[in-house]
Formats: sequence, C-alpha cells, structure tokens
Amino acid sequence: MLPNVPKVELHVHLEGTAPPELIQRLAARNRLRLPERLLNEHGRFHYGDFLDFLRTYDLAASVIRTGEDYRDITYEYLRACAGEGAVYVELTASPDHAALVGLSDEEHLEGVAQGIRDASREHGIEGRILISAVRNFGLEQALRVARYAASLPHPYVVGFSMAGDEAGHPVDGFAEAYEIAAASGLGCTVHAGEWSGPESVRAATRLPVTRIDHGVRAIEDPWLVAELADRGFVLNTCPTSNVVLGVFDGFEAHPLPRLRDAGVRLTLGSDDPPYFGATIGGEYAVCAVQFGFSDDDLLTITRTAIDAAFCEDALKADLHARVPATTA
Ligand code: ADE
Ligand code: ZN
Repeated sequence: MLPNVPKVELHVHLEGTAPPELIQRLAARNRLRLPERLLNEHGRFHYGDFLDFLRTYDLAASVIRTGEDYRDITYEYLRACAGEGAVYVELTASPDHAALVGLSDEEHLEGVAQGIRDASREHGIEGRILISAVRNFGLEQALRVARYAASLPHPYVVGFSMAGDEAGHPVDGFAEAYEIAAASGLGCTVHAGEWSGPESVRAATRLPVTRIDHGVRAIEDPWLVAELADRGFVLNTCPTSNVVLGVFDGFEAHPLPRLRDAGVRLTLGSDDPPYFGATIGGEYAVCAVQFGFSDDDLLTITRTAIDAAFCEDALKADLHARVPATTA
C-alpha cells in the first residue's frame, strides 16, 4: 500500500524512466535492433556496477530517436506517477543523449513538452524540465548544454542540472557551466555525494545551486551536515537507487533519517525507476516502512519539494493547495 499523500518528485532522469517494454516498443517503431546485452534473461535492464549502469543507460537511450518517442516516454511516466498520487514532477532531460542520435534540441524539447501538456490535460499532473549536462561527456559539452538552456525562454524549462560519472569528473571543473545557467535565471542542482564523499558535496555548495541530487554522503562529515542544514540546501535523495547501486549496504545503513534529524531539507526521487525497481510512490513507501516516517512526515517532504521546485510561484501555490495540512 502506498502512502496516501500527494507526492512530488524533483530527481528523475527522463531516459531512465522508460521501462524495457517501452524501449522495445520504440526500437521496433524505429526499425532498430535492440542493443546486445541491454536486457537480461528476465527482460530487465542488465548492468553490473555504476559505470556499467551508465553504459546500459546510454544503450537504452540510443533507441530513443524522435520527438514522438520523447513525448511518449514523458507522457507514460507522468501518467504512471499520477496513478501513484504524484502532483508534480521535474524531469531531468539530456539534450546530449538526443544529439547523439541526431535529434535537434528543438525536436527533443518539443517532444518532452508535448508529453507534459498531454499528461497535464488527461491526468492532472504537472511537469517541468531540467536541462541536464552529463559530466563524463566533458566540459565543452556541458558548456554547450548550459548555453543552450540559458538561451531558452521556454515556459517548461525551469532548471539546469548535471549527472554522470561524479568520481571521474569532479564538480569543481564545471563551475563555468553553472555560472552561465544561473545567470540566466534558471534554478540549479547538481549530482554530488553519490559516488564521491563529502568533499564533492562541499564543492557543490560553492556552485550557484539551491539543491543537490543525492548529497547523502555528506553524512560522513558532521560539520558539512550542519552547514547543509544551516544554509537550507535541499537534498533530492533516492534511497532505492542508492541501495540497489550499492552506495549503501541496505536501507538500515542509509543516512536519510539521520540527515532529517540533523535538520537537512529532503525530498524523494526514483532516479531511474525501472533500473532499480523504484517508483516515486515506492520511495514514499520506503520512507514509511524502512525509516518509520509518519504520513505527516511525508507531507513535510512533499511541502519541501514544492518549496524547492524551480517552477513559477503560481504553480507552487496551486501545488501547496493540493497538500492537506495534516493526514490525521
Ligand atoms: N544518470 C542517470 N542516473 C544517474 C545517477 N544515479 N547518478 C549519476 N548520473 C546518473
Ligand atoms: Zn540522478
């Protein structure tokens, strides 16, 4: 049973939302053979460690070829989220992955935007877009993506983010991309403290960001945890992703409850749902079942996510109005 509270998700990678059956459908529609080793004998995505996961992610993304494909992925994900009681999702979209298959930035963005419009009309869920760079594609590409994001007056593009191989490509090297994005008025977030330790989270706090994706390994430095709490940074945490990928040995080792108790502002995300057997509703259930959060605690998480969202104030007010004061 999923907790009966409105849910908000700020940390999910759009290509990573497409389950194997959708990837197979898109491959067939685009007359492509499914990449070898993409799926295991159970029909699930096949990967070993984190870098292998990133390779599998790129392989799956390689069959997403058209604006219509992006529309379908977006629509189907938002529909599933609405079915679990989600009211708002920020989708991390990667123009680099679209460019790799020859899709223009415009076709990519318009496909995602159409999926958001359709899901909003049919399922009452709102979506917005974070334009994301991939750090292991290099600084030049990150700068291109940041300039592109900064050049966009698009009502659905509200932020800039960066994912990819954190350990191999430290945060510090990308400050210029963040300056460009932030100067244009976009909200900024960055993956840090997943595959590197507190020093990476500390470097993230020197960027013009208000949110950090994961950030959980800040727990290794109590002074940093206190600073995150004092300065009001929001960590977009993904407990199931962390446990499945092996950042922590199990939910009992996950620092989410300790971060919460230290006053750090937290939200929940599914990261790459079908890869990890996660959903946004499932992350709320993990918090309830594994960490003992009450429904009122979960409402606080939803309110934190709305406050930390990068969308316009009018939408935030609408979203807050959909969250009851208490579940009691
Ligand atoms: N890209 C997709 N999922 C990711 C994750 N969990 N960490 C870093 N980059 C990602
Ligand atoms: Zn992520």
